[in-house]
Amino acid sequence: MIETLDELRERAFCCIDCDLCETRTNVVFGEGDPRSPLVLVGEGPGEEEDKSGRPFVGRAGKLLDKAILEAGLTREQVYICNTVKCRAADWSTGKPQNRAPLPAEVEACRQWLIPQLGLIQPWVILCIGAPSAKNLIKKDFKITQERGKYFRCDFSKVAMAALHPSYIIRQQRPGNDGGFSLLVDDIKLAWETACKLRDEQGGPE
Ligand code: URA
Repeated sequence: MIETLDELRERAFCCIDCDLCETRTNVVFGEGDPRSPLVLVGEGPGEEEDKSGRPFVGRAGKLLDKAILEAGLTREQVYICNTVKCRAADWSTGKPQNRAPLPAEVEACRQWLIPQLGLIQPWVILCIGAPSAKNLIKKDFKITQERGKYFRCDFSKVAMAALHPSYIIRQQRPGNDGGFSLLVDDIKLAWETACKLRDEQGGPE
């Protein structure tokens, strides 16, 4: 029985349960405040995350940091992890291109994500992007229609979803923020909800 996040991280570092282990540099387990009422769960590491071993440190990560700051928070106040802990990329063309994790890879990585959430016991989970919401909220989650709403979740009191910063970057045009302000709003609402639930329902320290 795994009792601490450090123990779980150590085990995850040795995982060979899907093909992503063959090309990874690092297992990107997660980081932040494990006592935070709010956990952000992204899709999976990209090139920079694979190199550094830290979630959301590349281009999408910089935009997420900006949104977290605009929501009145810092990265250190939340816990950040991913649906899959190893980089999913297409290696067929010589230069690896990030790709969405396959259902089998998502499934294999639940053995790390679910206990990770179980040890943190967040009040709110904010799924960053559709793959995370489909994994933790419901299979047919529609990110553009259902982001910013509250859902029941087996791993927290409430789950919500927000647009993924990579999607926002692809949508951005002069005069169009690509949904960045929605991401800020969703982070703000998720944090306020998490703190409210903790303060109303949390037991004594
Ligand atoms: N995108 C994600 O979903 N997670 C990361 O860690 C980086 C980019």
